[in-house]
Amino acid sequence: MKNEVNGSPVNDKIIRILAIESSCDETAASVVENGRKVLSNVISSQIDIHTLYGGVVPEIASRSHMERIDQVITKALEEAGMTLSDMDAVGVTYGPGLVGALLVGVAEAKAISFASGLPLIGVHHIEGHICANYIENPELEPPFACLVVSGGHTHLVMVKDYGEYEILGHTRDDAAGEAFDKVARAVGLGYPGGPKIDKTAREGNPDAIHFPRAKVAGSAYDFSFSGLKSAVLNYLNGAKMKGEEICVPDVAASFQKAVVDVLVDHAMAAAGEYHVKKLAIAGGVASNSALRSAMEDACNKRGITFYRPSPVLCTDNAAMIGSAAYYDYIRGIRSGFDLNAVPNLKLGER
Ligand code: KG4
Ligand code: ZN
Repeated sequence: MKNEVNGSPVNDKIIRILAIESSCDETAASVVENGRKVLSNVISSQIDIHTLYGGVVPEIASRSHMERIDQVITKALEEAGMTLSDMDAVGVTYGPGLVGALLVGVAEAKAISFASGLPLIGVHHIEGHICANYIENPELEPPFACLVVSGGHTHLVMVKDYGEYEILGHTRDDAAGEAFDKVARAVGLGYPGGPKIDKTAREGNPDAIHFPRAKVAGSAYDFSFSGLKSAVLNYLNGAKMKGEEICVPDVAASFQKAVVDVLVDHAMAAAGEYHVKKLAIAGGVASNSALRSAMEDACNKRGITFYRPSPVLCTDNAAMIGSAAYYDYIRGIRSGFDLNAVPNLKLGER
């Protein structure tokens, strides 16, 4: 292991990671230099296939990963203009996610590591989402607060140091992205729901319908979105029974505002209590335009520096895994060939 200062190597040696991500419905590979410089970022999305079924079908996701992963990795190396001999390690998401989907990436990474002799580094998917913020912000260093909002997770986290996290709050039921997907389906926008609600909401009035902003008793930073989802379904059923016309853009905008209000409120409450100076957002829902602008305004008002990855680095990708793997690499973390997929891996666990 090399010496390090603030997570950066003290000498000039460049560390290149070949990173692989296959935890859900994107097959992705990337080459990342020193955790921050992306040399390639190849993402093969399965959205077209899963759209036919209205959501991700795990068995189909695993099969599609198997069909695509070799080409995706070859393309990532080609676009970086490199071969495996230019790499220093292989990083791969090993959890959380769909077990069959994760296994494809993990088996592939183990095979590459075995054949090439490159060290293997198992990466936590949520840690990857957080690290996406390092890629375009060379000045960003821990400590900072991060709101991780994805299809499977809603976490408010203090990033105390590289690889060191304190979870302040998490969702008690549905994840924010899951609520977007379910509401989108209920109003007939289909899959994937988040981007469709985001787009449709632009034509609607966010104050047209008042949906609840849930608080979890006794825990200021936990989230609950299932009540909001039920309130939207009740509203839709009530309107149908009364023969009233449903204005989908108004429902989308009002629902989105309810989610964004809660996310911003919780993040700002934590920022106040923990004297946060830097706040980042991460995960698929972090690409939501209303959340990005509301969080930016709230941070500006309080003198907090706001960070958010470009939308392509918010949704699942392997560049973020390459960034997280680098910070593991310089801390001497290595995985053995017994690395396995862990579908419900908790943040901070190994
Ligand atoms: O991080 P991600 O790509 O995968 C997981 O790790 O879960 O997040 C996917 C989630 C989906 O629920 C999707 O609907 C949501 O992120 N999403 C959005 C937007 N783009 C993706 N939600 C709201 N607005 C968006 N623009
Ligand atoms: Zn994700």
